[in-house]
Amino acid sequence: MDEDKSIDTSEYMDGVVRAGVIATAFWGVVGFAAGTFIAFQLAFPALNFEWAQGYANFGRLRPLHTSAVIFAFGGNALLASSFYVVQRTSAARLWGGNLAWFVFWGFQLVIVLAATGYLLGATQGKEYAEPEWYVDWWLTIVWVAYLAVFLGTIIKRKEPHIYVANWFYLSFIVTVAMLHLVNNLSIPVSIFGSKSVQVFAGVQDAMTQWWYGHNAVGFFLTAGFLGMMYYFVPKQAERPVYSYKLSIIHFWALIFLYIWAGPHHLHYTALPDWASTLGMVFSIMLWMPSWGGMINGLMTLSGAWDKLRTDPVIRMMVISVGFYGMSTFEGPMMSIKAVNSLSHYTDWTIGHVHSGALGWNGMITFGALYFLVPKLWNKERLYSLSMVSWHFWLATIGIVLYASAMWVTGIMEGLMWREVDAQGFLVNSFADTVAAKFPMYVVRGLGGVLFLAGAVIMCINLWKTVTSVEGKSPAAVPAPAE
Ligand code: HEM
Ligand code: HEM
Repeated sequence: MDEDKSIDTSEYMDGVVRAGVIATAFWGVVGFAAGTFIAFQLAFPALNFEWAQGYANFGRLRPLHTSAVIFAFGGNALLASSFYVVQRTSAARLWGGNLAWFVFWGFQLVIVLAATGYLLGATQGKEYAEPEWYVDWWLTIVWVAYLAVFLGTIIKRKEPHIYVANWFYLSFIVTVAMLHLVNNLSIPVSIFGSKSVQVFAGVQDAMTQWWYGHNAVGFFLTAGFLGMMYYFVPKQAERPVYSYKLSIIHFWALIFLYIWAGPHHLHYTALPDWASTLGMVFSIMLWMPSWGGMINGLMTLSGAWDKLRTDPVIRMMVISVGFYGMSTFEGPMMSIKAVNSLSHYTDWTIGHVHSGALGWNGMITFGALYFLVPKLWNKERLYSLSMVSWHFWLATIGIVLYASAMWVTGIMEGLMWREVDAQGFLVNSFADTVAAKFPMYVVRGLGGVLFLAGAVIMCINLWKTVTSVEGKSPAAVPAPAE
């Protein structure tokens, strides 16, 4: 997986990777700020600002948050890192010339169109697939271009082997295309209006939506980010992947199992019982490849564990892999029907989401950004390692506050909803459970503030790295072509 010796590194197309890195950091801060704000809205409803006539209410800002963090922050991290990794591991410049720039700017347009749609009320109401048909069409075009650039680069590679990270990235690109097309099958009501009607109805619609939703987690938030793990962890640790064979088993097992697990989102609904059981069984099986992958990531540090003491960037990557393991243990457990009957509809789900999202996706992305910025701007080093340490601790404590508050809240409200008196009447009203959650909602908001503060420190550190750290001597690294 080493950078190839036969290619002058100036032949790589890194301008678009640099733009992707900036976009990742920018959208990250926007998305975390929106998350922190809506967290406080849930604790203090006055923050819905009645004077804003509904435009700033939780209902509109929530999809803004989820899309900003998943698609804008996560999506740009995947774009930038995949473009970087595929070039290095294929020893080839990105295929298609400026097509890569079209992908980058086209994707930013998707983000802006989606975000303005939410605020103005244009949504098809499908979670994580809220944008209406006109955005869906545009994303389809951009995504086909993305696939062409990535695949084209692999096809013209000079390395005989296709490194495992590229398999993960490719599965993410191809599967997201399939999910996007099927879940967004709809007929526009008029060519000039934003509204459309879904092709599927009732339980088929729900099943398609959660097939999409779960695999958005599986392929967008997991497979793509595993591509990052398999490149950046060995690079930062300066060790080969612990077991390459295991990484291949990890890949095939993961993609085979993930695609069946969606029905675990629809336990005890109108969905046939067999389908929900199928989803549960596949989810439990998913535990194995997930932990195989986690162990592979962690054991890559064998022989280099001392780096945990000296290198805060590797610490960030290691904790991210740890959170990957934690959330992929929790997920299979929550998919068991008996457990889901307690956890579903509660904040336990939100805790699970964010231990994965903040811990796994957030931390591995931060690690990758710290790795990439000095390389992409030809700098000797990062501006400040102690700022990385601050970021690490603020983010870690923020996640712990967030996740533990949500576990307590989720289990508490689940138990309160179930509680019946001797006559079989419910003991608590819904409003009672909302009131009981208040202190934990404040703790979650504070967790968000810490996580956000860490990200702002990262941006300052990266900015300072670009502007005030000495550059590498031109002899050491050839200047990029762009
Ligand atoms: C400062 C950091 C963050 C804070 C404070 C935060 C806060 C929140 C809040 C308050 C909600 C709404 C929960 C509800 O409806 O009860 C939410 C939902 C969500 N957030 Fe975040 N968030 C943060 C970062 C992230 C990141 C980095 C990601 C993904 C990469 C993410 C993904 C999601 C998802 C997927 C949901 C919807 C969960 C569901 O419907 O089950 N969040 N977030
Ligand atoms: C083996 C891996 C995993 C399994 C089997 C799994 C399983 C589950 C289950 C059972 C739920 C609750 C469904 C419900 O009651 O509605 C859930 C929700 C969720 N999980 Fe996971 N999970 C896994 C890993 C992850 C990871 C790594 C992430 C994030 C990076 C993640 C993100 C989410 C999100 C966003 C939701 C909320 C969906 C929604 O209702 O809006 N999951 N997962």
